[in-house]
Amino acid sequence: MDTILPIEAPSLSRRQFLNFLTGATIAVTTAPALYVAGKFLMPPAEITGAGGAMLAKDVLGNPIPASQILAEPSGSRALVAGLAGEPTYLIVQDDATLDRIGIVDNCTHLGCTFPWNPLDQEFQCPCHGSRYAPDGSVVHGPAPLPLKIVQVNVIDNNIFILPWIATDPRTGKKPWWV
Ligand code: FES
Repeated sequence: MDTILPIEAPSLSRRQFLNFLTGATIAVTTAPALYVAGKFLMPPAEITGAGGAMLAKDVLGNPIPASQILAEPSGSRALVAGLAGEPTYLIVQDDATLDRIGIVDNCTHLGCTFPWNPLDQEFQCPCHGSRYAPDGSVVHGPAPLPLKIVQVNVIDNNIFILPWIATDPRTGKKPWWV
């Protein structure tokens, strides 16, 4: 007796197979174009140094040469974009160098940015009245913590900003942001 073997239904219909081929073709042909477009839209690779250093930049994202800030009088506070774009004050010292400590412009109360008041020699937050000493220590609340600080290194007129992970020199303790 002849045995009739059932013919298995194909797992893909002709239409599904053609759709698959079309999709694969589109993927193969567009992938390189998307890669090129992605590379174009991505910011250029960050110039970094050891420890995650990033170049200080201006509001347009251009690196700021140290000479530009050091042209300001001693005691000036220059606001730059630092780590992850955080607004960061760099301080011109009396010997025409940059202080190795930068102060992050982000109030520890509720995160407002604040100006430097040269007359009072304080950072003064306009939101709820917190005031900070030149080193970022709290002079007057409601801010509960000193301002975050970062390391500042100048190499060949480039300003590198690095995370501050060592002991906080103002408190003698581990930094609150580490
Ligand atoms: S956010 Fe600065 S005092 Fe409240």
